[in-house]
Amino acid sequence: MTDLSVARTAQQSAFDVDAIRRDFPILSQQVNGKPLVYLDNGASAQKPVAVLNAMDRYYREMHSNVHRGAHTLGDRATAAFEGARETVRDFLNAGSTREIIWTRGTTEAINLVANGLAPRLKAGDEILVSHMEHHANIVPWQMIAERTGAKVVPIQVTPEGELDLDSFNSLLNERTRILAITHVSNVLGTVNPVAPLIEQAKARGVLTLLDGAQAVPHYRPDVQALGCDFYVFSSHKLFGPTGIGVLYGKAQLLEEMPPYQGGGEMIERVSFDRTTWNTLPYKFEAGTPAIAEAVGLGAAIEYLGRLNRPAMEAAEAALLARANELVATVPGMEVIGTAKHKVPVMSFKIAGLHPSDIGTLLDQQGIAIRTGHHCAMPLMDFYGVPGTARASFAFYNTLDEVDQLFTALQKVQRLFA
Ligand SMILES: Cc1ncc(COP(=O)(O)O)c(C=O)c1O
Repeated sequence: MTDLSVARTAQQSAFDVDAIRRDFPILSQQVNGKPLVYLDNGASAQKPVAVLNAMDRYYREMHSNVHRGAHTLGDRATAAFEGARETVRDFLNAGSTREIIWTRGTTEAINLVANGLAPRLKAGDEILVSHMEHHANIVPWQMIAERTGAKVVPIQVTPEGELDLDSFNSLLNERTRILAITHVSNVLGTVNPVAPLIEQAKARGVLTLLDGAQAVPHYRPDVQALGCDFYVFSSHKLFGPTGIGVLYGKAQLLEEMPPYQGGGEMIERVSFDRTTWNTLPYKFEAGTPAIAEAVGLGAAIEYLGRLNRPAMEAAEAALLARANELVATVPGMEVIGTAKHKVPVMSFKIAGLHPSDIGTLLDQQGIAIRTGHHCAMPLMDFYGVPGTARASFAFYNTLDEVDQLFTALQKVQRLFA
């Protein structure tokens, strides 16, 4: 058997990708007269019927506001909403649901932490990020740095797209207060060796945040084993609805942090003399929350829990291996990000072609990829490119789709050659 047929057999036997695709109705449509090949999962993933049904059922049978305790519908909504929080706690292996805060997404979660940690920062302090961060894990820290006089310092990246550990070792010093890095890079697909970095940071009393936006669609993180102080992710990249995300934070730190927004739900008692805060996690959840979205995210995590995870990871690895194998079939194609440990994400350029032209021409063939700077302008500067084309795969993609991508790229390249 060739490597390819081994991969194909492995994907088909351990992991029935055709059956899985039937769980995602959006995937079976035609786009521009061609069967949709959706390879923009890093930007946002598609939703299984289980999620659509859970949200539909929530609105049909139990919608009301939560935590009011006034009537049966309210009790049902609260049970579904808090049940979803427990599902997230279990997914992350957090110690308590007090440590699971609903946010609008990764971006809001990082802003919340940055604001909450600002009172600990003073002029001269350093916030260590990396050169491969999404803007969501750069700009909130820059805003806090501006307010406090602290400095945002980037860890360098190697040409292959791995964190430069010498750079990390030389930058982690007595001024470092916070280490905020991505678990998995959205551009490069690199899986960073976060556990030892966290250990080193903790040994110096440095607080740690992991941006898990691109990690959770591929791995199930264990926040206690990782030892991080904060872990954040967005539901929409984890096959759940838009508009909701998660901040995990260690209870003691969350207790010490000031609230992020003020309003209903987050208070214990309000008076014009003195207002006191609600207990965790509600202290950070001002206003009516995204209830149906929480239920939808819970359903997405439960759906993933029913899949054979080792088989899913093997199927994803086979997709990336197949893509890597085919790069040589497109003249002038160069992959950006060749780290040893990667999720199935492939950023690339093709000599003489602008990434946006690649994207447009693929779209005409029903193939959806992302092009541009991927909200990672410092990384684009590092590679000296205005942007890249990026194919990001999910477990529901097939080896045939990888082949279709490369056949289409060959066509695009010929057209411009
Ligand atoms: C690594 C990473 N961090 C943060 C974000 C921001 O996520 P959101 O826009 O859902 O808040 C993204 C989105 O692409 C991402 O890939």
